[in-house]
Amino acid sequence: MPQDPVPGLLIRATELLEQQFAALPAAGPAFESAADPGAMARILEGVARRLGDNYPYFHPLYAGQMLKPPHPVARAAYALAMTINPNNHARDGGRASSEMEIEAVGGIAGIFGWSEFLGHLTSSGTLANLEALWVAGQLAPGKRILGSEQAHYTHQRISAVLKLDYAPIAADHCGRMSMDALETELRKGDVGTVVVTLGSTAIGAVDPLDEVLALRERYGFRVHVDGAYGGYFRLISEALAEPARRAFAAISQADSIVIDPHKHGLQPFGCGCILFRDPSVGRFYKHDSPYTYFTSTQLHLHPSEKKSLAGDPVHLGEISLECSRAGAAAVALWATQQLLPLVPGGEFARGLAHGRTAALNLDRKLREDRTGRFQPLAAGAPQLDIVVWKLKAETSEQSSELAQKVFDACAARDLHLALVQLPLKWFEPATGLEPESLAAKGAGLVTCLRSVLMKPEHEAWLDRIWERLTASCDEVMGK
Ligand SMILES: Cc1ncc(COP(=O)(O)O)c(C=O)c1O
Repeated sequence: MPQDPVPGLLIRATELLEQQFAALPAAGPAFESAADPGAMARILEGVARRLGDNYPYFHPLYAGQMLKPPHPVARAAYALAMTINPNNHARDGGRASSEMEIEAVGGIAGIFGWSEFLGHLTSSGTLANLEALWVAGQLAPGKRILGSEQAHYTHQRISAVLKLDYAPIAADHCGRMSMDALETELRKGDVGTVVVTLGSTAIGAVDPLDEVLALRERYGFRVHVDGAYGGYFRLISEALAEPARRAFAAISQADSIVIDPHKHGLQPFGCGCILFRDPSVGRFYKHDSPYTYFTSTQLHLHPSEKKSLAGDPVHLGEISLECSRAGAAAVALWATQQLLPLVPGGEFARGLAHGRTAALNLDRKLREDRTGRFQPLAAGAPQLDIVVWKLKAETSEQSSELAQKVFDACAARDLHLALVQLPLKWFEPATGLEPESLAAKGAGLVTCLRSVLMKPEHEAWLDRIWERLTASCDEVMGK
């Protein structure tokens, strides 16, 4: 492994932080055990051994699930913040880190061209989506939520938690929400919100947001964009193929957006983000906390009455459903965005583009492979940076078994892919009769190999990934 810069970075920064509290009377360690570094070192060795029982998520040969190592500056800033362990619920618990959260969230909103908005970090994409659907339910009680059958599974579950009716909409052979199927539901006149996924979890499919917005004109409903995985692609959307480019170009017209810094944003897990275009939805969060909100000069002002959140001493707990939240997550995000500003053409955006190029290259290799044993999606190249393919076999059961065997053979060569179940029909030429709901069609699923090529290094490592994949297929399927 290359030398890790984080321990070195932390020494100087920790000294600097400690100096700022140097005037306090010295306090010894609270625990006797903490005074014995030997005992802790032994435990930590045990921790290191236990943690070895993982796939090597940090390595470019890990090319399976949506896992991206945090940037070293994020790890260092997170660890530094642990000296303080701030809580971004209220200024009382995390003054500096709340300020940093407001700035960092402003940077994310800037990707979508939003300067006036309401937003904050959350513990995850799921909680961010929960807040979006909760607000949606407050605005249109009793109305239904719709989302593609390829939307993240949590939307249906969140809706059930919130006691909102949810209906899945059939996806087309590209994995995108079908506009015909959506309009059929909209005609019923009882839809409050449509969840538009820009980057589905399974294959990175981009729902046609621009077309959904056109339907919004006609039928009047709220549009929530789930960009937990794909949101950052707005930074390179001009380089995406149509119609994904058009969908991302329309994102600023959404009513709410979820984006996960802990997916593509180079952050440790525990960092999602929800943004609302209309800051006045802050009124739904109104609550009193007799314990915590004592340092805000605008304590009694309603969030919608506060001019802007930037530089505003609002308590983040006043505008979020969660109470305690890791201030360290905001510190890490802020530090990362200082080093890698979220601008088109910057290092961060170039990193996304490298992963996407890796995905396009892998897809091309699969299609051009002379053995003809790979079957990528009939719809064409990946929409973002996720590649899926099935293995040719006489039956879908045999194909699924082969996928599992190749997955294992790759792992034995240190190449870690993922598996996903997809509709068989996505691998056959489109009939023009789609879409038919997966549920209505019965199983019709096949297990496929899946690779999320989200690390910038994946582009340079693609030949080594390909060598291991083809060697594994030779072993399992014969040359
Ligand atoms: C599109 C999408 N939405 C929501 C989520 C849930 O996010 P989290 O795992 O952070 O709760 C995911 C997770 O992969 C996702 O891909």
